[in-house]
Amino acid sequence: MAELGYEVIGVDADPDKAATLQAGRAPFYEPGLDDLLAPHIASGRLRFTTSAQEAAEFGDVHFVCVGTPQRKGEFAADTSYLDAAIDALAPHLTKPCLVVGKSTVPVGTASRLATRLAERAPVGEAAELAWNPEFLREGHAIEDTLRPDRLVVGIRSAAAEAKLREVYAPLIDAGVPFLTTDFATSELVKVSANAFLATKISFINAMAEVCEASGADVTQLAKALSFDPRIGGLFLNAGLGFGGGCLPKDIRAFMARAGELGVDQALTFLREVDAINMRRRFKLVDVAREACGGGFLGRRVAVLGAAFKPESDDIRDSPALNVAAQVQLQGGEVTVYDPKATDNARKMYPGLGYADSAFDAARGAHVVLHLTEWREFRAIDPAELGAVVAERHIIDGRNALDPAVWRAAGWTFRALGRP
Ligand code: UGA
Repeated sequence: MAELGYEVIGVDADPDKAATLQAGRAPFYEPGLDDLLAPHIASGRLRFTTSAQEAAEFGDVHFVCVGTPQRKGEFAADTSYLDAAIDALAPHLTKPCLVVGKSTVPVGTASRLATRLAERAPVGEAAELAWNPEFLREGHAIEDTLRPDRLVVGIRSAAAEAKLREVYAPLIDAGVPFLTTDFATSELVKVSANAFLATKISFINAMAEVCEASGADVTQLAKALSFDPRIGGLFLNAGLGFGGGCLPKDIRAFMARAGELGVDQALTFLREVDAINMRRRFKLVDVAREACGGGFLGRRVAVLGAAFKPESDDIRDSPALNVAAQVQLQGGEVTVYDPKATDNARKMYPGLGYADSAFDAARGAHVVLHLTEWREFRAIDPAELGAVVAERHIIDGRNALDPAVWRAAGWTFRALGRP
């Protein structure tokens, strides 16, 4: 928003995060974000605080962007952070304003929050709610925000639409489609988009299972499918499947909400999508065990990658760390390396071994598992890595390495969905 020309206050309940941001650094890794923050903080156009009151008094438009994680032991989403954000902001809203929810929510949440907001704001219904789901991908957050595929806004009044058109004018003028809907539809656009993406990944991973049973190659299959414009080639990378803070919990929360609405049958297929996805992790462990001669005991296993995807330090529901933990549980001596996520991984999985480089992780290893497709792993020279391992076995969990190159350097190369 500062980049679009607005004066902005960012609020976080966590004083450490607010202080880090005020110092011009993002509290997580996102390519380009620090460079984007610094000039706007230096100019004073962007600042950070922990005071909801300060923000409430300052802003005409308030974006609420808090998380909606999966509830412990349940499929449903925990929307309590949204309630808390509205409760912190509302009592200080003494002039007409627009409060815009960006979080991914169970359908029906916006309507509930609109009532909550009006009840608690001194200006009552003049503090109006709108819903504007966020579609950015981690690792591409800046380009996805400044050049989104579309803007979707759930609104209840022409005034709210006009205000959001004004806010987003620089993007709309640049040709970004701007779609207005009711609250429920805007909430559903977000969860159905993520459900579709998860389904696409699990579809190709289901094909990978059939490829494994029949000797076919899922990467060639996906390539051939991709020429059909009705299918398209994006999100057809077979491998270890999806993780992160979004797709897994969003499909589960979507199923839970459909159940509450009495239409759980409409989304039973997402159970399969989830199951296919989790099976890939077990399959990788099976292939690794086989490469280790049938058991992990006394075997050293190098794990390349800890983040749930490259260009991120996010390890929430990371397939790579899930595999690393399973291998360790079965007796393997695991050493993990990730270009950016090692510190986060160490905090969450203190029992695993860690290294400061791919080569250090691989030293003395009996098998190398490539589980997050960082560019630096693709640049590894198989001959050089071969010189430090105990045995030349590599398993590509992301179908991102070139089997011919590794095999030519004397490695046994295995991948998911390929012979
Ligand atoms: C996802 C959506 O792509 C965003 O549009 C959405 O805004 C975001 O969730 C959200 O709800 O906030 P993100 O979780 O950052 O974004 O990452 P993705 O690029 O979707 O990747 C998710 C997972 O799928 C990763 O673990 C990735 O490795 C895996 N993946 C992706 C595959 O296994 N195969 C593919 O072909 C693509």
